[in-house]
Amino acid sequence: MCGIVGIVSEKPFEVGELIKALKRLEYRGYDSVGFATDKGVVEKDVGEIKDFMTRVDLKQTAKVAISHTRWATHGGVTKTNAHPHTDCSGDIMIVHNGIIENFIELKNELKKEGHKIISDTDSELIAHFFEGKDIKKACVDFFKKVRGTFAVLIIKKGGEEIYALKKDSPLALGIADGMNIIGSDIYAFSDKTNKAIFFDDNEFAIIGPRSYEFFDKEGNPIEKHVQEFEWSSREEEKKKYKHFMIKEIKEQPIVAERLIRSLETEQKEKILELKNMIENAKRIIFVAAGTSYHASLLGTYFLHESGVEAHALIASEFNSFATVDDETLIIAISQSGETMDVIKSIKFARESGAKIASIVNVPYSSIQRLSDISLNILAGQEICVASTKTFTNQVILLLYLCSLLGYKTNFRELVRNMQNIFEQEEKIKELAKELKDKKDIYVIGRAMAYPVAREIALKLKEISYIHAEGMMGGELKHGTIALIEDGVPVISLIPEGDEDIISNTKEVEARGARTIIISSQPMKKTDFAIPSGNGGTFAILSNMIGQMLTYYIALEKGLPIDKPRNLAKSVTVK
Ligand code: G6P
Repeated sequence: MCGIVGIVSEKPFEVGELIKALKRLEYRGYDSVGFATDKGVVEKDVGEIKDFMTRVDLKQTAKVAISHTRWATHGGVTKTNAHPHTDCSGDIMIVHNGIIENFIELKNELKKEGHKIISDTDSELIAHFFEGKDIKKACVDFFKKVRGTFAVLIIKKGGEEIYALKKDSPLALGIADGMNIIGSDIYAFSDKTNKAIFFDDNEFAIIGPRSYEFFDKEGNPIEKHVQEFEWSSREEEKKKYKHFMIKEIKEQPIVAERLIRSLETEQKEKILELKNMIENAKRIIFVAAGTSYHASLLGTYFLHESGVEAHALIASEFNSFATVDDETLIIAISQSGETMDVIKSIKFARESGAKIASIVNVPYSSIQRLSDISLNILAGQEICVASTKTFTNQVILLLYLCSLLGYKTNFRELVRNMQNIFEQEEKIKELAKELKDKKDIYVIGRAMAYPVAREIALKLKEISYIHAEGMMGGELKHGTIALIEDGVPVISLIPEGDEDIISNTKEVEARGARTIIISSQPMKKTDFAIPSGNGGTFAILSNMIGQMLTYYIALEKGLPIDKPRNLAKSVTVK
């Protein structure tokens, strides 16, 4: 949550260049936006970057500047609470991603010292903390004094460098020609350079246009390794599509094919190693959040079908429910590789000696770097806040892994069927018109269709703003069925051979539900037919129907599909 970018350059650059880089991080939050330059200019406002860009002078130049796109934590969405924040004099300007946990104590101390604090944020305190001090020395004090999570960039009016501090929140330095760019992740600079240094926890750096010095939290110099990364930015354009969501839905067969090829070639050794780790572990626990958790649930199902016991836990509750020891294998699944709760879970598990494997989309992300082994789903950048193609590729990677353990999938056929599923688009559009004004939608499934039911319901909530519940067909009669009355929509996921879900569907029909059947078995009333295949292929294909339905309902309602209210793509706070 919150994206930060700073540029320090030998030659003056236009602020527009900085804001363009910031825009690439907008998926991290989009409540408010702002920038500050070495000339002491601070501009900020609420709202999206594109609107902000029309109001500020993007042609003004600077040699050092920082910027921020916000997802509010402390303090409402107001201009005063937007970043950058300054000290009392306006000489120190900062941007911050994270949360200062001991902010009350810090605020009281700073107030006693006479600082005038004008916003409701914890972040503003950082600017006052550095006021009038030697910044390098104060960085060491900052690590001692401040509890919480932070990626902070600090500049001084008339200064020639950026000071950057990191603990728990991600930060990377991109090294370009005559210019250094510091951002929350590599997207900030992947169009300018493929050379990066990743900050580790409890480090700070002083960054000039052609220089960088890194220090540990005590202020001792440390050596850092420059890494070359590969990252395609080709998929970032919306092209002919109205929204990134539909573009990313349509991209799925292509990115699936790319992943499968990679698992057969460059990622082959790694996936075999992960298979061995699974075979040698006493206990396997998936950990993830949101959509990635639904992929984890499917992972447990595929492993179960391969004869391997596994469990999936939601990351924010991991520490309370996981039993972990040195024979445990944790498989963390995360699109961004930055979800704070997943990072915390990994660190907790590692302390008990567990091995850590991860499945991520963003390479070089924190989760990838914290893992003993990490595989990439190669879905390319996903810009819509709601995950679509990344979920599908997570599931394909898990299916591939389990095919090595005995749960066989015909991957070429799967990709062909993924392409064919788009033939049902017109029918989905019609259904979207019918469902758009509904208050509630229920989605039911059993076995591998249960995680899909949850995933479709999540999409309906976050993108179509319709209350939805995705649940196990068998649980329906233990309470939720009380809510079924005439015309209530129930989406029923019916894979081949699942007689029980047919009974559950009949139960809701008997109470007046408007059922929508997504099925791979020949039935009298099928709204959307899924070609036959194993459970994994049913999961992917039926979910694609759900993705499109959600998209077209939101389109009918005129909602902000790619950036739904209150959400962020990368959740880097607890
Ligand atoms: C946020 C996003 C979801 C995502 C979840 C987990 O809530 O809006 O789309 O599924 O975080 O993110 P991760 O990057 O760990 O998969």
